[in-house]
Amino acid sequence: MTSRRTFLRVAGTSAVILAAGGIGLTQCDPMPDAAVEAWKGPAPDIRDPRVKALSFALLAPNPHNMQPWIVDLSEPNVITFVCDRARLLPETDPYSRQITIGCGAFLELLRMAAAEQGYRADVEAFPGGDWPADAVGAAPVARVTLVADQGNARDRLFTQVLRRRTNRESYDMTPLAAADGDAIGGAMSQLSVEFGWTQEPGAMERLRDIARRAWRIEVKKDATYLESVKVFRITGSEIAKHRDGLSFHGPFFWWANALGLFSRETAMDAFARDQALALIEAHLKTPAFAWIATSANDRRAHLDAGAAYVRACLKATELGLATHPLSQALQEFPEMLPLLAEHKRALGYADEMTVQMFFRVGRAAEVEPAPRRPLDAIMRA
Ligand SMILES: Cc1cc2nc3c(=O)[nH]c(=O)nc-3n(C[C@H](O)[C@H](O)[C@H](O)COP(=O)(O)O)c2cc1C
Repeated sequence: MTSRRTFLRVAGTSAVILAAGGIGLTQCDPMPDAAVEAWKGPAPDIRDPRVKALSFALLAPNPHNMQPWIVDLSEPNVITFVCDRARLLPETDPYSRQITIGCGAFLELLRMAAAEQGYRADVEAFPGGDWPADAVGAAPVARVTLVADQGNARDRLFTQVLRRRTNRESYDMTPLAAADGDAIGGAMSQLSVEFGWTQEPGAMERLRDIARRAWRIEVKKDATYLESVKVFRITGSEIAKHRDGLSFHGPFFWWANALGLFSRETAMDAFARDQALALIEAHLKTPAFAWIATSANDRRAHLDAGAAYVRACLKATELGLATHPLSQALQEFPEMLPLLAEHKRALGYADEMTVQMFFRVGRAAEVEPAPRRPLDAIMRA
């Protein structure tokens, strides 16, 4: 999740770790191969087009990399997609808006991967009706029927699916070309969403300031920060075991963990939280912010926003650009609400609109892929 470089910038007191990192152990604690094998594409022996399509769908961006998906394949040609209720984020995402956005991204990749194989994916969203507020995820998100249809157009963005990454590095501050923003917005033109972006210095400063304050609110509140810390996967062995959550590995984190300086317990200390707060500065180094908004704020709007977001990321990847959501100011827990309103105003929206995704876009060094759980873990026959 966090590069060694960014962490080092704020972990100035950890001289012992710096020394340890420099004693020829640069190959120590790599990302486990199995945790990222999904990014090589489907295994060649997969015959069922549904399973093949799912191998791509599970690469969808999703909050905290919770991968809240379960699919039932018991009905021929049909994928019944259910949200895994054990993988919600009730503190930072009290209405499961963000989780549903991840589900929308999953469905969009599923649709694209089906088209690639000559199938049309007929998606019936919420076939059992919308989720009641107190039973999010209880009924299926979608019933997807694959119908052989050679006339169904392939999606050119599909070529970017295995290359897409959430990139949390510092971005190069060179301004983007106006055409880049237009192309990213164009990638979602078929969906019921509004796309906006800016690199105007005054707006960027205001949005950076809001993002900084929002990050502070999330990190300072125990319950919201703990929700992230609980899914910190620290060192390759934890990453290999869980293949989800937020990954920290490499010699620096391995030694910090071995020396008792970095663990899920120490991460909650005031000192460690101040270090985490300082990390936002690297995340604010971006020439441009972009966002996706909707006029409705129901479950279908969340699915649309997810489809739009993953399409934006795929288009950006095609253009050689990196993307990274900064979602804190969009979160609906009580302490965040004033900033949520301020953020919406800063983007020029009236109250009726909902900003579903807010993310930075720019050029950055490439990063490794994030772990994914195996297909077996999400499939029910
Ligand atoms: C709705 C949504 C909100 C997200 N918010 C954040 C965020 O605030 N900060 C962040 O670093 N990543 C955020 N992400 C990115 C996820 O953490 C990322 O998709 C996940 O870790 C998997 O990594 P990948 O996108 O590289 O496959 C968000 C993704 C989604 C879909």
